[in-house]
Amino acid sequence: MKNIGVLTGGGDVPGLNPAIRGVARRAFQFGYKVTGILDGWRGLLEAEAIELTPERVSGILHVGGTILGSSRTNPLKKTADMDKCVENFKKLGLDAIVAIGGDDTLSVALALYRDRGVPCVGVPKTMDNDVGETEFCIGFDTAVEVVVDAIDRLHTTAESHHRVLVLEVMGRHAGWVAVYGGLAGGADYIAIPERPVDLNEIVAHLKQRYASGKRFSVIVVAEGAEIQGMKEVEERDAFGHVILAKRAVGQTLAEQIEAATGFETRAMQLGHVQRGGSPSAFDRVLGLRLGVRAAELVHEGKFGYMPALKCSKIVDVPLEQALKGTRTVDMELYEVARVFFC
Ligand code: F6P
Repeated sequence: MKNIGVLTGGGDVPGLNPAIRGVARRAFQFGYKVTGILDGWRGLLEAEAIELTPERVSGILHVGGTILGSSRTNPLKKTADMDKCVENFKKLGLDAIVAIGGDDTLSVALALYRDRGVPCVGVPKTMDNDVGETEFCIGFDTAVEVVVDAIDRLHTTAESHHRVLVLEVMGRHAGWVAVYGGLAGGADYIAIPERPVDLNEIVAHLKQRYASGKRFSVIVVAEGAEIQGMKEVEERDAFGHVILAKRAVGQTLAEQIEAATGFETRAMQLGHVQRGGSPSAFDRVLGLRLGVRAAELVHEGKFGYMPALKCSKIVDVPLEQALKGTRTVDMELYEVARVFFC
């Protein structure tokens, strides 16, 4: 009887529990035992785990967050930590690990598999939607729904008060949430990390709108967008990423717009509300499908792979290939969004 370890690492998102349920239910069909490793790689480092029984994965489909907890613990920082992970893999009696996470979490799974021979399978999860080789990651769809709801609400108050409202959303290297959310919500400008932000262009748009009688605007900015005059932030997480929320790009942009146009401009940082609440139907189905396939990959002994979504089908992709680079926004999509900027 095989024992599969499952963990969720990095920023939590709604849809993780469906993925855990997908892995576990398919594994039970194979007659396997399933072990939940707590708080991502921290749980492996400290050998903290629980058995995932059928009861434990019941009633979790609609629940946001992750029943296993998460962390940004990075064992790759120290050789001794990687050694410990291998040691605890054996200590916990595991035969394989299914790591559900974004590029950081998956890069640890790849290193454990490639360099240490630990049988690992990945599952792509991140609201940023920037893992390579998959069209969608778990958590993205739910986050977009939250952003659209926020934009709808900002529109009415922006219009009443004749203001410019700047909404800052998550998105470190890729502006997928900003583009999908902004397009669906009817944003008047969308600033993303993939494209240098041109204040003059924004100001021209806003003035044009104003001249045409529209005395309000809603702008969406991804937290990773580069704006001239941004304050530098030193604080970083365990994977070396700057804590972007502290850059407050939305606030900076709002101040610059107000100074350049004279229009009253306010900023709002949407923050972790984008990662909270129940998963959308899409994220539930995606989580279940990817989870089921991950358990099948273990059963087939196909390690170093992750299931991915391509053209509505679940396909197997080598982790190495998926982690080659960040999947940034398709500029054709951004051009569609630009049609509606003024
Ligand atoms: O996991 C990606 C992400 O959602 C980024 O968009 C964001 O910068 C980061 O997580 C914030 O994470 P936390 O607040 O948990 O450190």
